[in-house]
Amino acid sequence: MACELLSNWKKDLSILFYGINEPVQGDPLRDRPVSEANASILACAKYAVPGTRLTMYNLKINGRQMSIDVPGDTPLLWAIRDFFNLTGTKYGCGIGECGACTVHVDGRPLRSCILTVAAAENRQVRTIEALADDSVGARVQKAWLDLQVIQCGYCQSGQIMAAASLLMQTPRPSDDQIDFAMSGNICRCGTYPRIRAAIHQAARS
Ligand code: FES
Ligand code: FES
Repeated sequence: MACELLSNWKKDLSILFYGINEPVQGDPLRDRPVSEANASILACAKYAVPGTRLTMYNLKINGRQMSIDVPGDTPLLWAIRDFFNLTGTKYGCGIGECGACTVHVDGRPLRSCILTVAAAENRQVRTIEALADDSVGARVQKAWLDLQVIQCGYCQSGQIMAAASLLMQTPRPSDDQIDFAMSGNICRCGTYPRIRAAIHQAARS
């Protein structure tokens, strides 16, 4: 079984607005047995470093308590995508530079590619799939849809998570505050003007 993080990203686009749009028929989030995903990440951990010691970690993902058997230095991103099959969070650079993997941890936007499972244990992790459960998150996603912010879409999960976090801390941000808060999220398609406009719209709504 391959340790492949960059799976079918086009299919994953539907996950960006999970909770606002109707659930997709045959959604892998719901249909894929956890035991299969569990086998996947266990295989990754086992075959990547032979003899690696696995430990049980308790994670709180989107309000659910979950356990996972992996080495403690496994990136949280691997657990989110390969174990829990929450593929809305994207793998970009893998070194904390692009922001594609941004999730909320105890309400703060953090890079899940460089946050270990051990460091995330017993902290509240929210991914894009549960963002609409929060009223600010729902407003951000609606503004993104209204203004058609997305181009290729790959960075947008991280952009939306960063924007929602900004508005949770600063309900009416200035342009400078937006630029500063969003500066760690890179968009190769250059959607920055629409991102800024969508954040202002979400703040007004
Ligand atoms: S994939 Fe995590 S910051 Fe780029
Ligand atoms: S929309 Fe393409 S990378 Fe941002």
